[in-house]
Amino acid sequence: MAHNDVYGKTGNRVNGADGGPSTPPAMTTNPSTDPERILPELDLDAHLDDPAIKQRFVTAMFEVIAARYDRFTRVFSYGMDRGWKRRLIDALDHRGTDARIVDLACGTGDLAFLAARASPGARVVGFDVARRMIQGAASRLQVGENRILFAVGDMSRLPLPDRSADVVTVGYGVRNAPTPRAALDEIARILEPGGTLLTLDFYRPANPIWRGLFLWYLRVAGSLVGWAWHRIPVAYGYIAPSVARHLTCDEFSRALEAAGFRVMRVQRRLFGGIALHAARRL
Ligand SMILES: C[S@@+](CC[C@H](N)C(=O)[O-])C[C@H]1O[C@@H](n2cnc3c(N)ncnc32)[C@H](O)[C@@H]1O
Repeated sequence: MAHNDVYGKTGNRVNGADGGPSTPPAMTTNPSTDPERILPELDLDAHLDDPAIKQRFVTAMFEVIAARYDRFTRVFSYGMDRGWKRRLIDALDHRGTDARIVDLACGTGDLAFLAARASPGARVVGFDVARRMIQGAASRLQVGENRILFAVGDMSRLPLPDRSADVVTVGYGVRNAPTPRAALDEIARILEPGGTLLTLDFYRPANPIWRGLFLWYLRVAGSLVGWAWHRIPVAYGYIAPSVARHLTCDEFSRALEAAGFRVMRVQRRLFGGIALHAARRL
């Protein structure tokens, strides 16, 4: 793996010039890259509609919300998120000491930590495109958790060789990639044949009445929280339009098959608004 921006225990960067620990970089104050400055100026719909620029909005948004992300997820899902993640990791079938687990779009590391605890001895790497998320994840590492690393990285262009993972987990991540196919092709590339992909995400509900209600709730609640916490409604108002443009749960199963996976199990929650997929790399 290329060791750019890799964080180990205590939030220290483990790839200083001498290979030793170094202090995490300070948050940027350059106005042209300061996410708090640029996010309100970005046109949400234009970015969501164009895979070439979507990531710019997505990365800025997650940098802005990183510090409050965990609290938001708990509140917004009425506490259900924790159970969904545990259920997803229940499907982990590589629990040997030499398992190589990669958690993509890891955020503050919930799935990486759950996977590591379910698979004692496995090596776990979490990647996220937002540096503040990675710093939050690294700050949760306990003494002795040396087999878990977190690194800044884009799931559409991972710094990993082909067939270098036994398990990939992704929580609410594929929807945020420029296209689902870009993320799934990259996951297929890094997984060993026979390896497991576990995903949890929002999907566009197939039923039009439920879809309307679900998206309405996501839009209103997300915008209110985005305004209340950041004075930037799109900070969470992003969720509804991103789900509206995303695949249905069944369409995602077909996208997995097209990318070289066999879907082993699908568990729907909230009438298809949320789903957990377990798939095997062919
Ligand atoms: C909704 S959060 C999910 C975090 C975590 N997986 C969880 O389940 O709590 C989505 C995460 O995807 C990350 N992300 C978005 N685009 C990404 C990309 N292209 N590559 C890697 N991470 C990405 C964001 O920075 C954010 O942390």
